[in-house]
Amino acid sequence: MPTALIPAPRGVVAGAGETRLTEDSGLYAGAGTEGVGRWLGGVLRAATGLPWREAREPAEARDGVRLALAPGLAPEAYRLVSDRTGVLVEGGDAAGVLHGAQTLRQLLGADAFRRAPVRRDRVWTVPHLTVEDAPRFRWRGLMLDVARHFMPKEGVLRYLDLMSAHKLNVLHLHLTDDQGWRVEIQRYPRLTEVGSWRARTKIGHRASPLWDDRPHGGHYTQDDLREIVAYAAERHIGVVPEIDVPGHSQAAIAAYPELGNSDVVDTAALTVWDTWGINPNVLAPTEDTLRFYEGVLEEVLDLFPADAGPFSPFVHIGGDECVKDQWRASPAAREQIASLGLADEDALQSWFIGHFDRWLAERGRRLIGWDEILQGGLAPGAAVSSWRGYAGGVTAARAGHDVVMCPEQQVYLDHRQDAGPDEPVPIGYVRTLEDVYRFEPVPAELTPEERTRVLGTQANVWTEVMEDQGRVDYQTFPRLAALAEVAWSELPAPADRDFPGFERRMTEHYRRLDALGVAYRPPGGPPPWQRRPGVLGRPVDGPPPAV
Ligand code: ACM
Repeated sequence: MPTALIPAPRGVVAGAGETRLTEDSGLYAGAGTEGVGRWLGGVLRAATGLPWREAREPAEARDGVRLALAPGLAPEAYRLVSDRTGVLVEGGDAAGVLHGAQTLRQLLGADAFRRAPVRRDRVWTVPHLTVEDAPRFRWRGLMLDVARHFMPKEGVLRYLDLMSAHKLNVLHLHLTDDQGWRVEIQRYPRLTEVGSWRARTKIGHRASPLWDDRPHGGHYTQDDLREIVAYAAERHIGVVPEIDVPGHSQAAIAAYPELGNSDVVDTAALTVWDTWGINPNVLAPTEDTLRFYEGVLEEVLDLFPADAGPFSPFVHIGGDECVKDQWRASPAAREQIASLGLADEDALQSWFIGHFDRWLAERGRRLIGWDEILQGGLAPGAAVSSWRGYAGGVTAARAGHDVVMCPEQQVYLDHRQDAGPDEPVPIGYVRTLEDVYRFEPVPAELTPEERTRVLGTQANVWTEVMEDQGRVDYQTFPRLAALAEVAWSELPAPADRDFPGFERRMTEHYRRLDALGVAYRPPGGPPPWQRRPGVLGRPVDGPPPAV
């Protein structure tokens, strides 16, 4: 395909000639598309060096680019026509126009992804064609774990640009974990003063003997997060914040020891965790803990308004991997189980999550959590991120709950991309580019009615072994391009997907990623500087687990 679009559009009808974009080409943004016009004008002026005069009438942008809403098109759908009159991008809404504008950028060639022109004599052309396009799924996401290794704000903004270039529309930000608390909460300053940094860090899997003895830390101020949310909104991306409770909370407990189970462990002695794995130090299941996190969430709701972008009413409250050992050992937790008339510790977790389900619903928001929130009964309004395979998502969809499919066996991008010895810090399953391309988000066993509960899919990028942006790029790309096509395009059943055709389009897409400065894994494997010889992954010995 000469156009090599990724993700693949629904339909392309090729024409005969080409549109030339020159010094005289104007840019017209019709009513409701002004924001897209600003974005596209900025991108095109930077990459081409052409003036892209703002046209006040569509006719002034003949031979240029015109953006418009087309009421006949569905939300997020677009039509791009390049013909003798120039380029017309129409969308069912502004998001659709933006997706069409991203397609235009791909049609212009890889240099359109640079931030300054690299050749003075460059002729910018768009082939004459018509593209008709619309997404398969409404939720097309990426989860970034900025807790295990902090990604500075600039890096998050860069990832929003990368997501938009792939027509992804939900950034799930994993803001808190045992190893770091990354969001400023004004009423609890110790969460970042104490919780946002650790003295040292395990290098590699927890069985590795290596340590990085440099302190690691960082957090987003409230204005940083407002900027991230606004920048995302300009790209029609919603940011779903995750505050992980009641497990994955050692950084919070290190800051406020009363949050932990102080009748079974000396919580005052806990520090922000410096290694990896499932941590036994979970929140105490008390009313005081609920009040504390209501305080946290009040500020979070203010930072992530419900109308900022797609799925912005959602707040992720984690719920994963909450080991119940301390609750079983804690007289206070046992007393709480008895006084609430609950059956066991699973029911106690369900009580905890159910509280925030109601609390968020009362504020016009929706709770989403990892599939462990099914244990002990799912709260009525909750949506589920199905990560331990498909099963949680199937159960939740059958019970009428919305689901985002992100099974670890398929779309955890921290997992190794190849079985060979050169993969840096190889973790878990082998998930190649082709494996991700053949991932099917909708479980076959669901009825047509239950399938409507699958909002979509996301890739999850856990950063225990990704200490900087280069490592995140390596694990995320090129596989995120395959995930984007799975989420956006109407693909056949996994076995029938044209992976060789995708790979051919990727040849051009790698040039776009090069222009964007993405440190992806090259198809031939990592060059020496992308390897991490001597750093243990998991499993430590023997072959990776079969999917
Ligand atoms: C998870 O991977 N613990 C959600």
